Amino acid sequence: MTDLFTPFDLHGLPLPNRVVMSAMTRTRAAENGVPTDLMRDYYVQRASAGVIVTECTQISDQAHGIIRCPGIHRDDQIAGWRKITDAVHAAGGRIICQIWHCGRVAHPDMRGGEPPVAPSPVPATGNFFLPSGRVDFPVPRELGIDELPGIVRDFAQATRNARAAGFDGVELHGANGYLLDQFLQDGSNKRTDAYGGPVENRARLMIEAATAAIDAWDADHVGIRLSPSNPLYGADDSDKRTTFGYVIPQLNALGVGYICLLEPNAQAVAAGVQIEHIAETFRPLISVPLMVNGGFDKAKGNAVIARGEADLVAFGVPFLINPDLPKRLRTDAPYNKPNPALFYGVGAEGYTDYPALAV
Ligand SMILES: Cc1cc2nc3c(=O)[nH]c(=O)nc-3n(C[C@H](O)[C@H](O)[C@H](O)COP(=O)(O)O)c2cc1C
Repeated sequence: MTDLFTPFDLHGLPLPNRVVMSAMTRTRAAENGVPTDLMRDYYVQRASAGVIVTECTQISDQAHGIIRCPGIHRDDQIAGWRKITDAVHAAGGRIICQIWHCGRVAHPDMRGGEPPVAPSPVPATGNFFLPSGRVDFPVPRELGIDELPGIVRDFAQATRNARAAGFDGVELHGANGYLLDQFLQDGSNKRTDAYGGPVENRARLMIEAATAAIDAWDADHVGIRLSPSNPLYGADDSDKRTTFGYVIPQLNALGVGYICLLEPNAQAVAAGVQIEHIAETFRPLISVPLMVNGGFDKAKGNAVIARGEADLVAFGVPFLINPDLPKRLRTDAPYNKPNPALFYGVGAEGYTDYPALAV
């Protein structure tokens, strides 16, 4: 029977198992977005994943929204990533770069006073962490329609840069309330031009970015992540079934390398979930490899694969706290204890010091 430990051929990239490491921001890059040797150690520790998806990685200075997040838009950043991809490959692993634009989820204090940008001047909900403490999100600056081709070009260039850095592919971050998701959902997109209004318009930037990334590399190497249920940072939609029911087949028709869909999280459940079973709902619309994520353990992961609702299962926190997660799942070994205070920390503590099982 097919399960988490059955190998998978991702368009010629042989994955030894279907236990994917989900993208996770850990804020251990240098202040200038250059990946560090500590990040290399962290990813090498997790090389037994079917494939690693990196933390979200900014495609431009404008895309930068989180302190000590890495970038992939300058030569020194590409060189830093090259050390990581080489080391992961030498350890027998595979690694995909999650490319990202934060949109309105950012603060002027970490952008030289420049306000964040967004489809519309609607602030993100929640608050933002700065070294000085927590502050509200500001009203973002509405992007001019003439600025959007530049953002599409940045996604394409980031894709070329990821290829040059030795990655096995890219994953466009279309989820979790960041720029592409802000354009897609009608709660954050109030535009009246060709990028706002009906879903065909709201999906335009995401489709253009995916198309440009495919042109920059090829379809097999370009995945995308979507969160149909989760209203992160206030990016929400009045009719998620219609919105995601439109964009998912569009992306599928582009032949993207994979689509990663997030199942509802606790925040979505608290807010009232519009779509409960994401994999089951959208599988019939997807013929490319489908990855699911959110709240999976061994039993749920094996079951979703056995039912044919997903090809790959991504694990977030379980991989953060267990560098050898595939082995632990296979042998039913217990997980390490999480230290959430250091998820977004500085330095090795709570990062590279989660132990692997003794052999
Ligand atoms: C510390 C932390 C950082 C995260 N950063 C990202 C990110 O950069 N990009 C992303 O798409 N998701 C991010 N996520 C979400 C995870 O990829 C994943 O969707 C979430 O943890 C649910 O999966 P799980 O139940 O297996 O942990 C992050 C989650 C955590 C805990």
